[in-house]
Amino acid sequence: MDQALIIAITDLVAGYRHTPVLKKLNLAVKQGEAVGIAGPNGAGKTTLFKVILGIIAKMQGQIRILGRDMESSQDRAWVRRQIGYVPQQTIPGKLPVSVGDAVLMGRWGTSFGLTRKPN
Ligand SMILES: Nc1ncnc2c1ncn2[C@@H]1O[C@H](COP(=O)(O)OP(=O)(O)OP(=O)(O)O)[C@@H](O)[C@H]1O
Ligand SMILES: [Mg+2]
Repeated sequence: MDQALIIAITDLVAGYRHTPVLKKLNLAVKQGEAVGIAGPNGAGKTTLFKVILGIIAKMQGQIRILGRDMESSQDRAWVRRQIGYVPQQTIPGKLPVSVGDAVLMGRWGTSFGLTRKPN
């Protein structure tokens, strides 16, 4: 497998209970690449992020994030600590902080703290 890939997803099937939302999804993202995922409401964009973050388990296929196969709960927990995730806002109005600060909030205690700069 290409070692430069930080996300390598092959024939992924994932969803909720017995309802697959992602059906044989393939995605390869290289280090340093910026990728936008577009699709209609309910297409499965958030579901894809939940699988990448290890919040929900896959039903079928292979998923390799930052070199880990996400097969064990330890690997999923490790991956979860490496990734900053800003979920969709459900409260109306503007968040009174900058985009950069909003992103950093989720990294407090994981990638930086009182004496450590964010990585
Ligand atoms: N917790 C859940 N339990 C059961 N079904 C769910 C759950 N969350 C989402 N779904 C269903 O999975 C499908 C994909 O939803 P998902 O939230 O991934 O879509 P999305 O592309 O992020 O949509 P949006 O553009 O509205 O954010 C939808 O049919 C949705 O109803
Ligand atoms: Mg969504």
